[in-house]
Amino acid sequence: MDGNGRWARERGLPRIEGHRRGSEAVRACTAGCIEAGVKNLTLYAFSKENWQRPADEVQALMGLLDRFLVERTAEILEQNIRLRAIGHLQDLPEKGRRRLEDTIAKSAGNTALNLTLALSYSSRAEITDAARAIARAARDGTLDPETITEDTVSSHLYTAGEPDPDLLIRTSGEMRISNFLLWQLSYTEIVVTPKLWPEFTKDDLFAAVREYAGRHRRYGGI
Ligand code: IPE
Ligand code: MG
Repeated sequence: MDGNGRWARERGLPRIEGHRRGSEAVRACTAGCIEAGVKNLTLYAFSKENWQRPADEVQALMGLLDRFLVERTAEILEQNIRLRAIGHLQDLPEKGRRRLEDTIAKSAGNTALNLTLALSYSSRAEITDAARAIARAARDGTLDPETITEDTVSSHLYTAGEPDPDLLIRTSGEMRISNFLLWQLSYTEIVVTPKLWPEFTKDDLFAAVREYAGRHRRYGGI
C-alpha cells in the first residue's frame, strides 16, 4: 500500500494525513475482494524497515493501526472477514498487539475473506526464522536434513498452509518487491498501477483482477 506520503505532499498535507486516507482505502479494497470472489488478501501495512522512519511518523502509524482495529472490528465481523497477521508482531506496541490478537480471535471462524495484515514484516526475516526453526528440528533429531523439501520450507513460513499469491498489486508506480513475500511470490503475476494508495478504488482493484485474468501463466513451461 504505497504512496501515502506522496498523496499528502501533492496536497500540501502532513504525511500522516496520507496514511489516514490510506487506511480508509482498505475498506473499498476488502469490499471489492469479497465482491470479486477473491478469498485471500494480504496487505503490506508496515515493514520491519519502516521502524527506521522518524519516531513521530512511526507513532502515528501505530496509532492508526490501533484506530483501525477499534473502528473496524465490528465491520470485519459483520462482513464475515477473517483477520490474520504476519510479521514480527512482538515489535508492535502492547496495546495494539492485544487489540490485533483480540480481533484475530473473534474473527477466526469467518469465511468470506482471509484478510492478512503484514506488520513489522520482512520476508528475509521470515525466511531466516524458517531456517532457524528447520535447523533446530534437525539438531533435535526430529527432522532429517535429507528429507527437507520446498514444502518443508513453505510450512515453516508465517504463511504456512496458505496458497501462494496469484496477483501482486503495487501502487504508486514503484517497480520493487520491497522485501515482501519473496518465497511466496515466485510465480505471482504483478500489476503495477500509478495510482497512489489513498486513491486506490474498487474499480482499480477490478481492473487489476481483469488484467490478471488475461495473463497466461506458464510457471516456467511454454
Ligand atoms: C505507504 O506509504 C505506507 C507505509 C509504508 C506505512 P508511504 O509512506 O511509503 O508513501 P510514499 O512512498 O512516501 O509516497
Ligand atoms: Mg513508500
